[in-house]
Amino acid sequence: MKVMVIGGAGYIGSHVVKALLDDGAKVVVYDDLSSGHKINLFPKAEFVEGNILDYDKLKQAMEQEIDAVVYLAAKKAVGESMENPELYAENNLIGAVNILNAMSKAKVKVLVFSSSAAVYGMPEYLPVDENHPLNPINFYGFTKLEMERLMKWYDMLRGIKYTSLRYFNAAGYDKSGAIKGRDSKPQNLLPIIKEVVDGKRECLMVFGNDYDTRDGTCVRDYVHVSDLADAHVKAIKRLLEGKPSAIYNLGTENGVTVKEVIAATERVTGKTLPVRFVGRRAGDPAVLVASSRKAEQELGWKPKYTSIEEIIRTEL
Ligand code: UFG
Repeated sequence: MKVMVIGGAGYIGSHVVKALLDDGAKVVVYDDLSSGHKINLFPKAEFVEGNILDYDKLKQAMEQEIDAVVYLAAKKAVGESMENPELYAENNLIGAVNILNAMSKAKVKVLVFSSSAAVYGMPEYLPVDENHPLNPINFYGFTKLEMERLMKWYDMLRGIKYTSLRYFNAAGYDKSGAIKGRDSKPQNLLPIIKEVVDGKRECLMVFGNDYDTRDGTCVRDYVHVSDLADAHVKAIKRLLEGKPSAIYNLGTENGVTVKEVIAATERVTGKTLPVRFVGRRAGDPAVLVASSRKAEQELGWKPKYTSIEEIIRTEL
């Protein structure tokens, strides 16, 4: 099995590459290294340095015996997507069309796409399952939903089978330490906490402690990145076996508050984490928890990391 991982030098992508290599697959990484890291590249994987907006290069890279594509390369900062929609339209929409067109030309029939819980918007019921209404409240979530809709058409018209994986809060790092690249300007809770623990930031700002939750802070479903990576391998194999296109939530069904994340970090480090409570961040739902029953039933996927403490241990 030969898989092209587009965005394979990035955070989730590098974990997917590792999982594929560990499973014995041949891997080609296509990445422009704009946010991915050279040190995340595995010598066993072939590397093509390229941008998804470079259609000719993308198509050329696919014109070898590629069995499946995993598409992760995308802009992922929710706030930035609202301030600079043009950037997100270009990378996440035009880039997505290029990938589908290149696959169509190169006759690659299997695609696994990194989608997001952001396609749902504000949860109307919990836990959120795949039948939940789709009402993204930010441009980032809109771009993910548009790709899902495009894939449906390319499946009908070109026979490209796809699996869309809607990640909830991806967190942690490979526990063997194989993946060393870190985001230089982290936007998410756990990497920010790591910077505080490492003394690179003075304190963690907690966005809101007046939510209607058990301790006033937001509840999220943190899912370990190695568990996410495992789901990609399973999704590729399932499609290569001839099963139909599908969409799966990936989470743990276990909601954890920001205060609980802080307490778990303090248990892991044995130190008090400097924290400052500030106002709510616009667009944050109070609670976001996934039902991943469908992934469990159809993919045979179950997260191995079930406690936030274990996840934090791999992050720090
Ligand atoms: N938070 C803080 N302080 C920080 C950063 C985050 O208190 O400095 C809080 C947030 O308010 C939220 C929780 O920590 O309650 C998690 O925040 P993240 O920014 O880590 O993650 P989000 O839940 O906002 O975002 C995630 C993914 C997005 C996706 C979104 C919606 O990172 O890609 O879920 O599904 F779009």
